Amino acid sequence: MISSPPDTLQVARSVAELQQIRPTFAGERVALVPTMGALHEGHRSLFKLAAQHADRVVVSVFVNPLQFGPGEDYARYPRVIDHDLEVCAGAGVDLVFVPSVHDLYPPGRQVLIEAGQMGSVLEGAARPGHFDGVLTVVLKLFNLVRPDVAVFGEKDAQQLACIRRMVVDLNVTVDIIGAPIVREADGLALSSRNRYLTKAERHSALALSAALRAGARQTTVPTILDATRGYLSRAAQDDPSLRLDYVALVNPMSFAEVAADYVGEAVLAVAAHVGTTRLIDNFTVQLSPA
Ligand code: PAF
Repeated sequence: MISSPPDTLQVARSVAELQQIRPTFAGERVALVPTMGALHEGHRSLFKLAAQHADRVVVSVFVNPLQFGPGEDYARYPRVIDHDLEVCAGAGVDLVFVPSVHDLYPPGRQVLIEAGQMGSVLEGAARPGHFDGVLTVVLKLFNLVRPDVAVFGEKDAQQLACIRRMVVDLNVTVDIIGAPIVREADGLALSSRNRYLTKAERHSALALSAALRAGARQTTVPTILDATRGYLSRAAQDDPSLRLDYVALVNPMSFAEVAADYVGEAVLAVAAHVGTTRLIDNFTVQLSPA
């Protein structure tokens, strides 16, 4: 049950409502920030960045079933639409699009976007089909909202890379902007899934950002990887709630692992389970010639 939205914020609760409101933005530059709700400070920073690039900011709130695998947290993913509408109203968002699953995926659906090789490594290996689901819903949202620009968080770096690839490969005329990761003072990257963590697990989760800091202090591909893996493996030995999934150093555009002599910007990415919650984090590192 969705209660009344605060103040002047417009809310489209269906595709039909969106299609009534969207023409009122004609001639204005529109930014879209796709989200799955449970909005936090990290999302607020996306909305702020979106407002710097457009006259109107549209936020979608949709927990996309297509990007969750069997046994993942689709059913328990936090759905707190009243809270989300308040965050959007306070952040100067113009329109929130909150479609239902049935509205976005009418029966009979067959066509999917495939993320390809770059969507099958790291997060894609741990979550088969995840990026196909992400790209499919993002393209649908682009087609419905028709934004000039869309903003995505750099915390989901592989998602951002796949979306950048999709707009090139499918000639989608939306400018994609990445927004820096927002962290708590102690280094924990903000995530809607942090809500699942107990106090003790939240403390354990700090190992991810600490491992990235340890890695980023190094200057070569092997030492960066060793320092990051070493930190997380030691942390996991002392802490049974922590289980390392992967550490990887990848090209930010292709998400292919970089060679030992790679020069340029790379993404140092980690994933780990903390209790029953799977968390990801990353740092951008610069590799200079030897
Ligand atoms: O990053 C997210 O919240 C989701 O993957 C997105 C981009 C909204 C697609 O469902």
